[in-house]
Amino acid sequence: MEKFVIEGKKRLEGSLAVHGAKNSVLPILAATLLTGESVIHNCPRLTDVDAACNILHYLGAQSKREGDCMIVQSGNDCCCCIPDDLMRMMRSSIVFLGAIIAKCGKARISLPGGCELGPRPIDLHLDALERLGVVIEEDHGYLNCRSQGRLQGAKIPLPFPSVGATENIMIAAALAQGETLIQNAAREPEIQDLAAFLNACGAKVQIGSGGDITIAGVERLHPAEHRVIADRIAAATYLSAAAITHGDLTLTGVCPEHLSAVLPCFEEMGCRLAVDGSIIRLTAPQRLEPLRCVRTMPYPGFPTDAQSPLMAVSCLAYGSSLFVENIFESRYKQVPELRRMGADIKVESRVALVKGVPSLHSATVRCTDLRGGAAIAVAALGAEGESELFEIEHIDRGYEAFEQNLASIGANIRRDCTSQKPML
Ligand code: EPZ
Repeated sequence: MEKFVIEGKKRLEGSLAVHGAKNSVLPILAATLLTGESVIHNCPRLTDVDAACNILHYLGAQSKREGDCMIVQSGNDCCCCIPDDLMRMMRSSIVFLGAIIAKCGKARISLPGGCELGPRPIDLHLDALERLGVVIEEDHGYLNCRSQGRLQGAKIPLPFPSVGATENIMIAAALAQGETLIQNAAREPEIQDLAAFLNACGAKVQIGSGGDITIAGVERLHPAEHRVIADRIAAATYLSAAAITHGDLTLTGVCPEHLSAVLPCFEEMGCRLAVDGSIIRLTAPQRLEPLRCVRTMPYPGFPTDAQSPLMAVSCLAYGSSLFVENIFESRYKQVPELRRMGADIKVESRVALVKGVPSLHSATVRCTDLRGGAAIAVAALGAEGESELFEIEHIDRGYEAFEQNLASIGANIRRDCTSQKPML
């Protein structure tokens, strides 16, 4: 059992390079099942990446890290099933389904584990794969999938621009017979990054302007090298840490365009932003202003993953901030932990009203999920006194060198191994 110990109220100042995007590298690693040897640059050191590599190894591929590169070698033989324990390690392992079926013509996976964000069905994934010619049967919590030979291109209207479903279709359709059209596809930067990787491997993926994606199936894919985009959510998280500590932070290696809905929120709170190419500098005010209304939406709207870090900052704003979570049913798990630190937050279904307080105080808290855990760390950085954060394995899923990065810009944070689990 590990915990973070954070002494708050230290002003963060300095420069940070932002690691590669978790939500980009995971589908790209799944796609490497189809590409032989591939070299993935800017691959972040995350436990979710470890989980994805464990799945690749189980399926018969090899992977090895060389610095910030992950080299994946996938041969012709491929196991077609993912056991329950590996599926449960990471909800997004569903994104391997399309790749396995495209390669083996069949797949057997257990239904993804429950998720801390409320029910996360996979109906859109399964409906899309059935349109591509996959026959899917449920068998005691497992899905048995098989295709009659090569997948067949199809028109796939998505009722919701699901990121994972869009990725599954792109990967499965890359080797299908004929053309696939995804209507109302997700447009997140991670989708664009996956398309870039697939096309580098010889696929024919075209992202239209109106949210359509066309994939012209090819016979085979070949190895390629690819550099993963920067993690826009990690960037938003570190900017939140600077904002709550009235700091001055420069982020390098980022794509400001990917934060086009997030940066204006920091400006609304009174932060000064300077953007120059792949560099963002945030200078925070002594007095943070509230956020009138943050509505999470599919890209290019405000990203749901940045909701909780910004909520943490708004706890210390002069006034009330409103959040509306439109993407996930239950994405306010961080609220009870923020309240333990003195935050004044009321939640009614998808709406959260945060009434700014003069100060937060230290507490013993637990990380509830990946982004909620990061938000609690942000709040602890702005709180008086020393806080203890438990269940930090959630944070390690999506943030590389979290405590080292924060300490390098002035935070008083350390990782302790501890035997006891607190009575929370
Ligand atoms: C991806 O999850 C990201 N994960 C999430 O980031 C992110 O929050 C989410 O997209 C939205 O941007 C990865 O990329 C690994 P969705 P995903 O399919 O693919 C419903 C993080 O913190 N839905 O766009 O699971 C679903 O229940 C993680 O890094 C269906 O109803 O998101 C949810 O309410 C958290 N049926 C909504 O759509 C389906 O078949 C968005 O889901 C699929 C999804």
